Amino acid sequence: MSLQKAIATFIPQGVFIITAKDGEKVNGMTAAWVSQVSFKPRLLAVAIAPQRYTYELIKNSGFFCINTLGENQTELAKHFGFKSGKEVNKFEGIEYKPALHGCPVLKEALAYFECELVGECEAGDHLILLGEVQDYEVLKPDEKPLIFKWEDFFGG
Ligand SMILES: Cc1cc2nc3c(=O)[nH]c(=O)nc-3n(C[C@H](O)[C@H](O)[C@H](O)COP(=O)(O)O)c2cc1C
Repeated sequence: MSLQKAIATFIPQGVFIITAKDGEKVNGMTAAWVSQVSFKPRLLAVAIAPQRYTYELIKNSGFFCINTLGENQTELAKHFGFKSGKEVNKFEGIEYKPALHGCPVLKEALAYFECELVGECEAGDHLILLGEVQDYEVLKPDEKPLIFKWEDFFGG
């Protein structure tokens, strides 16, 4: 098994759609590298590559929203995870509402956590964005989150 597949399999992670809004522009991208990193204040971290269009919107607006996907939402993760908002409007046909600071909340999400960007540090080819939770809601308390499985997205 490759190192990357071993990490992804044995350090289990969920699957999330990170959304942001900058003026009239909205976008979202799939992310698995999401974690809580502090109780007080309530900080969440997302590792995001600097070339993502979503990062541009987060930098400009200062906010991002973590939308948690459910166990039957692999297709939604693929929709947001394999093309860039630089080329297509990924929100076409997707229902959403604004969180407190305007970030899109997917109607299909199990829960969301809208964060203010409070810090950023370089981590190899990614950046770790630190977000303080400003708004959240559990939308589907009885459904189970999607757990990232390598095979679901990248084959054998
Ligand atoms: C299952 C899955 C997990 C991903 N996790 C991350 C991640 O944690 N961080 C990241 O920067 N990109 C991650 N990606 C890649 C982005 O979702 C992908 O590059 C996306 O097209 C970026 O869209 P954007 O340019 O519209 O922001 C993941 C993709 C998939 C399919």
